[in-house]
Amino acid sequence: MTENKAFKPVRKAVFPVAGLGTRFLPATKVMPKEMLPLNDRPLIQHAWEEARDAGIAEFIFVTGRQKEMLEEHFDHQPELMRLLESRNKTDMIEKVQSSEMQEGKLFLTRQAKPLGLGHAVWCARKLVGDEPFAVILPDDVILADKGCLSQMIETYNDTGGNVVAVMDVPREDTAKYGILDIKEEKGKNVDIKGLVEKPDPANAPSTLSIIGRYILQPEIFTHLSCFEKGAGGEIQLTDAMAKLIGDQPFHGYRFDGTRYDCGSRLGLIEANIAFGLQDPETGEAVRQIIRRFTETTPETGKSHALA
Ligand code: UTP
Repeated sequence: MTENKAFKPVRKAVFPVAGLGTRFLPATKVMPKEMLPLNDRPLIQHAWEEARDAGIAEFIFVTGRQKEMLEEHFDHQPELMRLLESRNKTDMIEKVQSSEMQEGKLFLTRQAKPLGLGHAVWCARKLVGDEPFAVILPDDVILADKGCLSQMIETYNDTGGNVVAVMDVPREDTAKYGILDIKEEKGKNVDIKGLVEKPDPANAPSTLSIIGRYILQPEIFTHLSCFEKGAGGEIQLTDAMAKLIGDQPFHGYRFDGTRYDCGSRLGLIEANIAFGLQDPETGEAVRQIIRRFTETTPETGKSHALA
């Protein structure tokens, strides 16, 4: 990847993983939401791979209670490796090895109380220091030829400033997202003049929404330090970003790829179908399963699989 020497490189990524994941209860009663499987690996591994492929060198997890499994997932597991070797499971050995993080790359900080995404990012301020950084929400998964963060870093190397990944959402859904007030559109890049967290459809300044990928300048921490509560009584990242606009360049980037909301049950089901279909190991079998469920028997009008 070519690096523009005019802008400080993005070397660190923050993964806020301290949320409660209430939409998946009881599955997330003990297990972190970010460990839910999407195809053959947990959500957190998809997020880490995207960051690693984008050239990120330091991975910062903001964890909380009952989240230890997330760090352990990236450890070397000698007993498991010995067992797989004794059974000659070469393909599995490779898969397990590809989930191991190199020593000295993972950094942990804790959010004692889940006070909101903005607060979770603030908890990483000492580990980030005075340099630009990425934020990846592992429950937003993007299926793309080139990873979304790689695309964003290429854009950042041209523009500098702050870059957020954006996509159009139906107007009736604006109250679920951070929405852009657009100054000007230039191809895939959007100059932003304002941001509103979860606006009612009637008041939404556009239907262009921020999704869970950000490149931010360290000045964001000054605004997050105010601990101002926003929508839902939580300390929102969007509110702190909105305060940076005007002081610093702020761009939306229309990424190539499809985003799946794996923080919701339906989104995770949809993502599993999409990833299962595009995986050469499972694609054809998944296609047949879908056919069985969607074709109906003329007598009952029900699907073959459920009749
Ligand atoms: P969500 O908005 O999906 O919240 O967080 P949640 O608590 O995880 O899930 P629900 O709504 O109760 O089902 C988006 C991301 O931000 C992190 C979450 O772990 C998730 O990766 N987060 C959220 C924190 O780290 N801390 C918080 O206080 C809130």
